[in-house]
Amino acid sequence: MCPLRCKSLHDFLQALGASIRLLSKPRRGWQWGPKSINVNLCFGKIPVADVAELLTLEGVSKRVPDAVDRWLFEEVALRLDRGEFVAILGESGVGKSTLMHIVAGLDRKDGGRLCFAGQDLDDLDDDARTLLRRRQMGFIFQAFHLIPQLTVAENIALPWRLNALPRKGLPERVRKLARFLGIEHRLEAWPRELSGGEMQRVAVARATLHDPALILADEPTGSLDPDSAAQVLDLLRDAGLRAGSAILMVTHSEVAAACAHRRFLLERRGLRQL
Ligand SMILES: Nc1ncnc2c1ncn2[C@@H]1O[C@H](COP(=O)(O)OP(=O)(O)OP(=O)(O)O)[C@@H](O)[C@H]1O
Ligand SMILES: [Mg+2]
Repeated sequence: MCPLRCKSLHDFLQALGASIRLLSKPRRGWQWGPKSINVNLCFGKIPVADVAELLTLEGVSKRVPDAVDRWLFEEVALRLDRGEFVAILGESGVGKSTLMHIVAGLDRKDGGRLCFAGQDLDDLDDDARTLLRRRQMGFIFQAFHLIPQLTVAENIALPWRLNALPRKGLPERVRKLARFLGIEHRLEAWPRELSGGEMQRVAVARATLHDPALILADEPTGSLDPDSAAQVLDLLRDAGLRAGSAILMVTHSEVAAACAHRRFLLERRGLRQL
């Protein structure tokens, strides 16, 4: 079963069809695998139609948690094409993170329709949604959700490994991405040894390494200095150009939002194009 809202690391792993067994003595290096991570869901592929329209939201609504008749937001409509970069701005508490969780299937909507490459997500069972999320989506959480028992390199490689993508060349691929983000010297560090900005860059690397069709970025530059923020935004733009990934980013930063092709403001009555 998919967790209702990805609030913790455990939820994050569960959402990827995996769980972690605590090692009494974590080791550095590329040693993890069956010893520390269980892949609970067998590998598989969800066929994704090769259509330009990657994500469609129609009338998506969400009630205020624990309230029966109060709406957090209503009638959110959006179409996101492959390779497109869309930014959503909005006041704190308006529901930006909630909307991102709904798109990833980590939170329930209370109304409307959500399609991925023309496939209504309500028509997929939990396992199918998990596989879709694991292979086709990369999620940069506002709270990072790095795995404390894994080194930086292992954290970055996690979705790649869970998807059983070829191991050949993986360390070099991780290193190249870490170098671009200025965290190459931290690859063997544990998450607890990192600054907030370093954690954020690890989260960005982890969400993009496996070239997902959709990158969901929740405040991806919130903890970064201007230079590091510019690198992250370059990386996201590059993912769109290189791998055709679509990027949906929520942010408070006008500078970050200016990098997107289209910008919206999330309000209680839905999305307003800026
Ligand atoms: N699991 C939950 N249980 C109860 N209330 C919740 C839960 N998750 C979110 N909320 C509430 O829903 C509202 C929207 O939260 P959300 O995190 O989506 O806002 P946000 O727009 O991302 O804010 P910020 O810009 O501060 O990150 C808030 O009032 C929050 O307190
Ligand atoms: Mg938020």
